[in-house]
Amino acid sequence: MTTHTPFPNDFLWGGATAANQYEGAYLSDGKGLSLVDILPDAHHGRWAALTHPKEAQATQYDFYPSHESVDFYHHYEEDLRLMAEMGFKTYRFSISWPRIFPNGDDLTPNEAGLAFYDRIIDLCRALQIEPLVTINHFDTPLAMLNKCNGWADRQMIDHYLRFCDVLFKHYKGKVHYWLTFNEINMILHIPFLGGGMDVSDAAHPDQIKYQASHHQLVASALATKLAHDIDPDNQIGCMLAAGETYPNTPNPDDVFKALETNREGYFFIDVQSRGTYPNYAKRLFKAKEIVLEMAPDDEAILKANTVDFISFSYYSSRLTSADPAVNNQTEGNVFASLKNPYLKTSEWGWQTDGLGLRITMNQLYDRYQKPLFIVENGLGARDTVTADGQIHDDYRIAYLQENITAMGQAIADGVPCIGYTSWGCIDLISAGSGEMAKRYGYVYVDRDNDGNGTLARTPKDSFYWYQKVIKTNGSVL
Ligand code: BG6
Repeated sequence: MTTHTPFPNDFLWGGATAANQYEGAYLSDGKGLSLVDILPDAHHGRWAALTHPKEAQATQYDFYPSHESVDFYHHYEEDLRLMAEMGFKTYRFSISWPRIFPNGDDLTPNEAGLAFYDRIIDLCRALQIEPLVTINHFDTPLAMLNKCNGWADRQMIDHYLRFCDVLFKHYKGKVHYWLTFNEINMILHIPFLGGGMDVSDAAHPDQIKYQASHHQLVASALATKLAHDIDPDNQIGCMLAAGETYPNTPNPDDVFKALETNREGYFFIDVQSRGTYPNYAKRLFKAKEIVLEMAPDDEAILKANTVDFISFSYYSSRLTSADPAVNNQTEGNVFASLKNPYLKTSEWGWQTDGLGLRITMNQLYDRYQKPLFIVENGLGARDTVTADGQIHDDYRIAYLQENITAMGQAIADGVPCIGYTSWGCIDLISAGSGEMAKRYGYVYVDRDNDGNGTLARTPKDSFYWYQKVIKTNGSVL
């Protein structure tokens, strides 16, 4: 009996991590400081540190979660073998920029840093796992914050391209899928992680954020050109923190507010995928009193070098109202959103909306007509280890079942999708809260919020469930 599956035969099932939350070894083998390396955990003011990074830098905290993290640096072999055991076809990871260029503006790369990624990529290939590399995932070298306020300064384009050039040449023929910037729209919400900048005492923060965004958009377009020039087989994706925003009521005011909120994210992908600033940018800049400084060739560069595919993270939909009195924030979320009464809410205030993923995929494809790649999705939840050492994470399986079903429905709707990498496939540090307790993985890592634990890896129930999903190409969920 053949079981029906909407997923294509070459669908890339896998998982995702990022160097800054996973590797640890924060100063090993010549690595420079990453942005996250100066951030404390949730209980010692992580949010204040994220919004006032220069102050955080001058503060000595007791504990820095990223310094050891879950030590992928020394556990990579075990972890990649666990991924292979689940049947991963792809693994999304990021290359730590300060591991390769410790200060950001160095002229030559740190060979010991490259050697680490050689080991990862070679083992991935040996295990028949296709590497999917994020070039910049929240880790512009910290030194650049102090030298030029990160991406606020145009010189970052050259430093980033030097990094890209090394990667594209060094991994030519071994890596074919690249993402230029993780969640590029995050720069508007957490400018420190998105852009390595501190805007806390700026007179006009929006001016700096959009100017820095312009620098990243030009850098992304030039990286796309470079990647294609070095190896025509390279496939380059943009990456959006996605999630459709719904209107709170059928009141047209709310519907228009939702449209504008959705455009805050689309703004970036409109440029990266269509090659021009969108029609609504002019009015937006006028309203926010933003004047973009552009170099004479910038528009031509953006136009000529659009991305090959659209990747995105999806955790939840969002909800907005035009009435400021109604539009207060949902706790625990970077993106302002009302609580949707039709949806379940996690302990960290994130809501589960599988159909929202189908809606988001249809909207993205209708708008861009380029293949999609879901590169983050998942449920951050607290796990309990039973007396016999097992982790029964049925809540995580339920979330993933709902979302993967919705992804299959979107594909059946006619939306091409290259693959799916759920977030934090092996437990790692939360970006927002710095906690270990907010776990996303199929594999439990023995480490707590204070850094105690053996770092031992244990497959959860979801590990065996996902193994079956991959084996049956999504026909058994
Ligand atoms: C995305 C990021 O925003 O969400 C990841 O790309 C992050 O780096 C993930 O970890 C989940 O967020 P959090 O705060 O739960 O770690």
